[in-house]
Amino acid sequence: MASKSSTTLLSGWLTRRLCRHFISHIQKHYSTATAGTAVLPTNQHSNHEESARTQSRRRQLPNEIKPLSHFLEDKFGRHHTYLRISLTEKCSLRCTYCMPEEGVDLTPTNKLLSTKEIIELAKLFVRTGVKKIRFTGGEPLVRRDICDVISELNYLRKNDETYAHLQMLGITTNGVVLSRKLPGLLKAGLDSANISLDTLVPEKFTFITRRNGFDKVMRGIKDAVESDLRTVKINNVVMRGLNDDEICDFVQLTQHQHVDIRFIEYMPFDGNRWNSNKMVPFRELLSKIKGKWPDIEKLQDSANDTSKAYKVPGFKGQIGFISSMSDHFCGTCNRVRITADGNFKVCLFGGNEISLRDALRSGKSEDEMLAIIETAVKKKKARHAGMLNLAEMKNRPMILIGG
Ligand code: 5AD
Ligand code: SF4
Repeated sequence: MASKSSTTLLSGWLTRRLCRHFISHIQKHYSTATAGTAVLPTNQHSNHEESARTQSRRRQLPNEIKPLSHFLEDKFGRHHTYLRISLTEKCSLRCTYCMPEEGVDLTPTNKLLSTKEIIELAKLFVRTGVKKIRFTGGEPLVRRDICDVISELNYLRKNDETYAHLQMLGITTNGVVLSRKLPGLLKAGLDSANISLDTLVPEKFTFITRRNGFDKVMRGIKDAVESDLRTVKINNVVMRGLNDDEICDFVQLTQHQHVDIRFIEYMPFDGNRWNSNKMVPFRELLSKIKGKWPDIEKLQDSANDTSKAYKVPGFKGQIGFISSMSDHFCGTCNRVRITADGNFKVCLFGGNEISLRDALRSGKSEDEMLAIIETAVKKKKARHAGMLNLAEMKNRPMILIGG
């Protein structure tokens, strides 16, 4: 449980950091949103001993060897075994880096994938070699059928050999309703949760997300960390002059908790007011962190990790950098995406999309579906167009792609 002294320490330390003028300063550069009332964050330093649950989090499911499918192999030899499915375009928050200020036109419900279609597509991709599925959005927990989808796939991987290589079922969530939904999600078979948190300062949270909800997110993170989930990661989009002063505070959170904080370089998407000055390259972040923890260690990354992992010796958790802009990892990319309206996207930054929804609804056979998927995968480019070009290119806003 939380120790009182660490709570007081953290609160006092954060309170000192609250600068009365920061809102007016950052508003000039980021948007015209207004800040909410101050609420001190809940405690993040849990001193509980490593429990059987947290140990089990780091246990991995067996990785069954399956022949790699040519349908998911591109011209550069990359095998796409990680599928991200966006369940919805809706979100209870309005993060400035994700959602355009004016909002987005939502796709009519009948054009979004139904529960049955999501399961059908997920199964098809698993049959053809996908090993990991992450549900995104928008906010995936606004969809009532999320537990049904996870539970069906979990049942299949446990009971049907064809699906036994599905190692990971995860979500990327804003955390607002996570505490409430967690028991159901765990029961359904969820393995992993990536939770967005860009600041430990409540006013900034309100500014960045254009909504309240800081305390609920903090509670969601705490509950997730203490649950049976195998991995809990925090996504932190770093924006210069907005939250880059909090990097070390986030690293500090890993001292007592088995949590993985990933600092993500701010990426340009339609309507998100990106500019290159706001993006903080990961090397700059690392050197800042080294100023405080000179002995921070590089950890071994796995083949398809998007994150460069580091750990402060003696700390329970770890950190990572997702350097999509300053040092892209396109060469080892194994991800493909399905948007909530059923479009297949082979690259987060690529404009090429093909509707799997329409293909399904027109009654295409499994072979025909696979041929469509393969054609799209084979067209995947070696790498994205580069930071400055991306900023000029047309893409969807991130909320309509899925994080
Ligand atoms: N740059 C970097 N990451 C982003 N995300 C959303 N928009 C951006 C952006 N412009 C990521 C956040 C969030 C997830 C849903 O997508 O990490 O957690
Ligand atoms: Fe919602 Fe996540 Fe986008 Fe924020 S980043 S608006 S929480 S989908």
